[in-house]
Amino acid sequence: MTALPLDPARIRALFPAFSEPSLAGQAFFENAGGSFTAAPVLDKLEHFYRATKVQPYGVYAASQAAGEAMDESYRRMAEALNVSAEWIHFGPSSSANTYVLAHAFAGWLRPGDAIIVTNQDHETNTGVWRRLANHGIEVREWRVDAQTGRLALAELDKLLDSKVRLIAAPHCSNIAGEINPVADIVARAHAIGAVVAIDGVSYAPHGLPDLAALGADVYFFSAYKVYGPHQGVLAVRPELAAQLPNQGHFFNDAKPRYRLTPAGPDHAQIAALSGMIDYLEAVAEIAGDKVEGVDPFRRAHAAMRAQEIALATPLLAYLSRKNSVRLIGPDSPAERAPTIAMALSEPGAAVAARLARHGIMASGGHFYAYRLLEGVGIAPDHGVLRLSFVHYTTPEEIDRLIAALDAELP
Ligand SMILES: Cc1ncc(COP(=O)(O)O)c(C=O)c1O
Repeated sequence: MTALPLDPARIRALFPAFSEPSLAGQAFFENAGGSFTAAPVLDKLEHFYRATKVQPYGVYAASQAAGEAMDESYRRMAEALNVSAEWIHFGPSSSANTYVLAHAFAGWLRPGDAIIVTNQDHETNTGVWRRLANHGIEVREWRVDAQTGRLALAELDKLLDSKVRLIAAPHCSNIAGEINPVADIVARAHAIGAVVAIDGVSYAPHGLPDLAALGADVYFFSAYKVYGPHQGVLAVRPELAAQLPNQGHFFNDAKPRYRLTPAGPDHAQIAALSGMIDYLEAVAEIAGDKVEGVDPFRRAHAAMRAQEIALATPLLAYLSRKNSVRLIGPDSPAERAPTIAMALSEPGAAVAARLARHGIMASGGHFYAYRLLEGVGIAPDHGVLRLSFVHYTTPEEIDRLIAALDAELP
C-alpha cells in the first residue's frame, strides 16, 4: 500500500465510536449509509442540549448563545464550501430538501420547459424532478451505460437544446461510485441557460467540494454521512433561490433561510454542524506537509482522497481478479469514491449477512438507486453487495475485509 497521508491512530482518536466497547472488533464498511460522528460534533450537540436548549435569537444570554452557535454553522459551512453564507440552507434530510426544492421549481418552470434527470441517481435527486411532468414539464432521461453503470457526456449532449432549464445529476452515485465531471455538466447547462442541481451525498464524505470551482447552482448533501449530525445541507445560488417561490410561511418571505426549508429548524443539530468543519480542519492539520496548498478544506479533501485511493487499491485489485464479482462503475480507484457495489449470483443482503459473522458491518440491497439497478440489469430485489469506507478505515480493516470476502465469495 502506498504511503498514507493521514495517521489512522490520530484520525480515529477523533471518533468516540472507535473506543466504544460494543463496536470493538467490528470493521465498518457501511459508511455510505451514514458515517461515525466526529467528537467536535458530539461535543457541540451535547453542549447545546445542556446549556442553550432554549428558543434561539432572543433577548437573553442563553438564547443569544444558541442563535450564535447556529449562525456559526451557516458561516463555517459556507467557508468550507467556498461560497457566501447566503447559499446555505439546513433541512431535515436531503430527501426532504429536494422534495421542497422540486415544489419550488414547479412554480418557477413553465409548461413546455424541459428538464434532464439521470437513472444513475439515488431516488432523492430524480423522483421529485420526474414528478414535474404533472405540471406540463418535459422530462428527459440521461441514461447510464447498461453494462458499466457509467454516465457519458456524449449521451447528455444528445438531450440538450434551448428548452432545457434544469439538469439534475449526481456528483457520485451511491452504487456506481464514479466521480462525475460536474464542471463539464455545468458548462453545458449554462451555455443553454439551464441550471444544475447536483446530489453530492455520496461525494461529500470524501472531502467537501469547492462549489465556486464546480459552478453548480444547487448542491446538496447529508451531514450525517460527513461525520456530522442528522441534517441535510442544501446550497443554492442566492440569485436562483430569490427567484424560486417561497415554500415557507408567507410572513417569512423576506428571510432567505426560511424560504426553502419549511420544516422548523433543528436548532441543536444546526448548532452542532460547525463541529464538522472543526473536524475537517483537524484532518488538514494531521495531514501536515503530506498534502499541498493553504486552504484547510482543500487540504483535508486532498488528504482524504489520497488516503482512500491507497486503501481502495488492493480491494479493487482483489475484486477484479474474482470472476464471480460484477463490479458496478469504474475499477480504477482514482476515478471513484470507495463506495463499491457489486452484483453477485446471490442477493447482496445474503452475502452481507455472512460477512457480519466475520465482524464486517456492510449490507446489500438497492440502496434507493432502484432505477440504476434496473438500468444495469440487476433486479432491485436481488440487489448488490455494497462495501463503503472513508479515510478513517485502516489498512488492517481492508485486509480483514478481503479475507472475509475470500471465505464467502465463490
Ligand atoms: C446519493 C444519495 N443521495 C441522497 C440520499 C438521501 O439522503 P437523506 O437520507 O439525507 O435523505 C442518499 C442516502 O442514502 C444517498 O446515498
